[in-house]
Amino acid sequence: MIVARRPLRGAFLFASSLAALACSRTSADANAKADSTKVAAAAAASTVHADSVWRAPFGTAPDGTPVEVFTLTNKNGVETRILSYGGIIQSLKTPDRSGNVDDVVLGFDDLAGYVKSSPYFGAIVGRYGNRIARGRFTLDGKTYTLAINNPPNSLHGGVKGFDKVVWHAEPFKSDSGVGVVLTHTSPDGDEGFPGTLNAKVSYTLDDSNQIVIHYEATTDKATPVNLTNHTYWNLAGDGKRDILGHVLAIPASAIIPVDSTLIPTGEMMKVAGTPFDFREPTPIGARIDSNHIQLKYGRGYDHTWVIDRADQTGLVRAAHLQEPTTGRTLDIYTTEPGVQFYTGNFLDGSVVGKSGHVYKYRYGLALETHHFPDSPNQPKFPSVILRPGQVYKTTTVFKLGAVH
Ligand code: GLA
Repeated sequence: MIVARRPLRGAFLFASSLAALACSRTSADANAKADSTKVAAAAAASTVHADSVWRAPFGTAPDGTPVEVFTLTNKNGVETRILSYGGIIQSLKTPDRSGNVDDVVLGFDDLAGYVKSSPYFGAIVGRYGNRIARGRFTLDGKTYTLAINNPPNSLHGGVKGFDKVVWHAEPFKSDSGVGVVLTHTSPDGDEGFPGTLNAKVSYTLDDSNQIVIHYEATTDKATPVNLTNHTYWNLAGDGKRDILGHVLAIPASAIIPVDSTLIPTGEMMKVAGTPFDFREPTPIGARIDSNHIQLKYGRGYDHTWVIDRADQTGLVRAAHLQEPTTGRTLDIYTTEPGVQFYTGNFLDGSVVGKSGHVYKYRYGLALETHHFPDSPNQPKFPSVILRPGQVYKTTTVFKLGAVH
C-alpha cells in the first residue's frame, strides 16, 4: 500500500493505492451495484482519482477554537467535505447520469455562514435529535429542564447543541475507505442534560459511493441520547430548484402523528390511503399540499416514518430518493427505528448559501435517521436512555448513485 503524507500549505494528504481500498468495502446494498458502476464509469472517463483525505484550516469558531475541513475523495470522483465545527457535511459532489458532477447538499462557503444562522445544514445533531416537549423530562424520579429554543419545545439538543461545537477531528484511512473521526465530551449538565457524555462520530467514504456514519456514546449518568445528521439534500444540485420533483420511497407502514407544535401524540398513524404513503416511489410534490391535518401542522412533511423492519435487525433501507432530471439517487440505510422526512418547510429565502444560492421554500429535504421525537416523555416509544456501562452505537449509510 502506498501511503503519502506531505505538507501542502498547512494541509496533509493521505493517499493509498486504489487496489488496496478496492479489495474490501462496506456494501449495504448489492442491488445498487449496477448504479454505482455507471457512476464510476462516468467519472473515470474524465479524471483519474485516488482515495484520499485532505486536512486544511476552515476559520476560527467564536470561542477562538480553530476549525478544520477534511476533504474525502474516492476513486469514482465522489468528494465530500466535513467540518470539525458541528461535524458538518459542508459539500458532497457526485456525478449525475452523464458524469456531470454537482454539489447535492445545502450549506455555506465559509464558517461565518454556519455560525451566523444555519438551520442545521449538514450538521450532527445532539444530544437529542428533534423535539422534547416543553423542554422537560423526568428520568429515574428527577425532572430535568432544557432550553425552550423552539417554543414551546426544546429542539435538536438546545441552544448550543452538537451542531455548534468544535469536535476533535482526526483523518483516517482503513480497508473500508477514507474518513474522519470526530470526538466530543459534553459535560454533565450541558444544555440541561445529565451525565458527562463522550460522543464519537465517524464518517467514511468508500469506493461504492457510500458515506458510512457510525455514532457512539458513553455516559457516567443515565441520560437520553438521540444523534443524527441533518443534511439537506437536493440531488438536482445545490440551489437549483425546489425538491418537489424528487421521487421518494420510504418502506414504512406508519408515521408518528404530531400535535400543532410538532410533538408526537404518542400514537402511530397507518399511511395507507394518506399522502404519507411512500411505500411506492412517489414524487414529493404530488400530495404535499393535500388537505390533511398532519400536513397543515408540518407546513408540509415534517414527520417520523416508522421503518418497516419485519424481523430484520441491523442496517435496513430507510429511504430511496431519485431526481428525474439528473438521474441521481440516494439510498439511506440505518440501524435506527425512524426517519424524519422534512421538506425544508422553514426555508423562506432569507438564507443565502453556497455560491450565493438563495434557499427558498422547500429547496432542500432532510432524511434524519433517529429514534422517535420526545421519547423521554413517551412511555410507548423505544427507550432512548443510555446508562453508565452501556455503549450507544448506531449506523447510517448514505449511498449515492445515478440511473439512466
Ligand atoms: C427537523 C425538524 C423540523 C425543523 C428542522 C430544522 O427536521 O423536525 O421541524 O426544526 O429540523 O429547521
